[in-house]
Amino acid sequence: MNKDTLKEFTQKIFDDMAGAMSAGLCYIGIKMGLFKIMAYKGPLTQIQITNDSKLQPRYVEEWLKAMVCSGYLHYDPLACTYCLPDEHAYLLASEGTDHFAGGMFYMVPSSLSVAPAVAKAFKTGGGVSFQDYPEELVDAIDLINRGNYEQRFASYWLKFIPGIIEKLEKGACVLDVGCGVGRVPLTLARAFPNSQFMGIDSHSHSIHQAIESCKQQGLTSRVEFSEKPLNQLDANGKFDLITVCDCLHDFTDPVNMLHEMKKCLKPDGVLFIIEPKVADNLEDNCNSIATMLYGFSIFHCMTQSLAEGGPGLGTCMGPMKTEKLVRDAGYSHFEKLNIKSKVNLFYLAKL
Ligand SMILES: C[S@@+](CC[C@H](N)C(=O)[O-])C[C@H]1O[C@@H](n2cnc3c(N)ncnc32)[C@H](O)[C@@H]1O
Repeated sequence: MNKDTLKEFTQKIFDDMAGAMSAGLCYIGIKMGLFKIMAYKGPLTQIQITNDSKLQPRYVEEWLKAMVCSGYLHYDPLACTYCLPDEHAYLLASEGTDHFAGGMFYMVPSSLSVAPAVAKAFKTGGGVSFQDYPEELVDAIDLINRGNYEQRFASYWLKFIPGIIEKLEKGACVLDVGCGVGRVPLTLARAFPNSQFMGIDSHSHSIHQAIESCKQQGLTSRVEFSEKPLNQLDANGKFDLITVCDCLHDFTDPVNMLHEMKKCLKPDGVLFIIEPKVADNLEDNCNSIATMLYGFSIFHCMTQSLAEGGPGLGTCMGPMKTEKLVRDAGYSHFEKLNIKSKVNLFYLAKL
């Protein structure tokens, strides 16, 4: 045994445990608004933070100390003050922007809450159905994706689909499959007031949230949400654009779903797919983003598909598998778009 390797690996174990606990502590910081209270204010005393947060003093005290140890906060021992550096606030107290990183921490408690059931499924097979996760998982998915959808979808990503912006400006029909809480159709509807949008999702709680947001934003005349499956939409040849965002890998019958989408596209319509960014080869995925994504996969994406008898493609499906699904569904054109992103891959398919 190599003593240096043992020492290094022991350190890694402590680092990983600290990372896991930091993720939980960040969840608290975001959920309870502590990062927002501290953002761009410079050094603050514990009393100031407690008063501003209106939270229990002993909890705030312990959280502040933990966050100093983890390096998220800076501490001045002479002045007894805590400071959230501006660069940390930029990532943690910026909900709704495309640089907000806090949504990932939100995934941790809700996905790990099913860890015992997932462990059992290693022996028994099956998994955990989407509806058996805490509802907060839906908030987590939305917090992760919302900033990018609102800040980049209409203004940047769509530029990579030839001719689509012109069509949407004139008036087009768009379907978002697996729309979750409806962020994509609602965002695009605000950007393109002459177009019609539809979002479908099999998860009731998500669709109810989407319908509520649609009403609040006054978009009900141009945006419709439905729990109906694709094959009951009665929408053959209707759509200019179908979007499938962060959910192709979740589907229990992905090729059939893609095939149904093909039927719903106009002859010159396009399918736009967004998937998590991973490489095809495992050896090229040995980094922290893929580690996190494999965690999301085991504790959610793969497992919820296996629960329904699906293939359990998992979060880290990668480009080759994605292309195979699209080709198997009968599309003649598939291309990976050259859109820059740290976490997503983008694909275009045509009939
Ligand atoms: C990871 S979430 C993504 C939600 C949203 N598209 C986003 O990017 O934030 C995956 C979504 O796919 C939905 N879904 C899974 N299977 C589905 C199916 N067969 N039909 C419609 N929606 C489905 C789930 O209910 C869930 O809302």
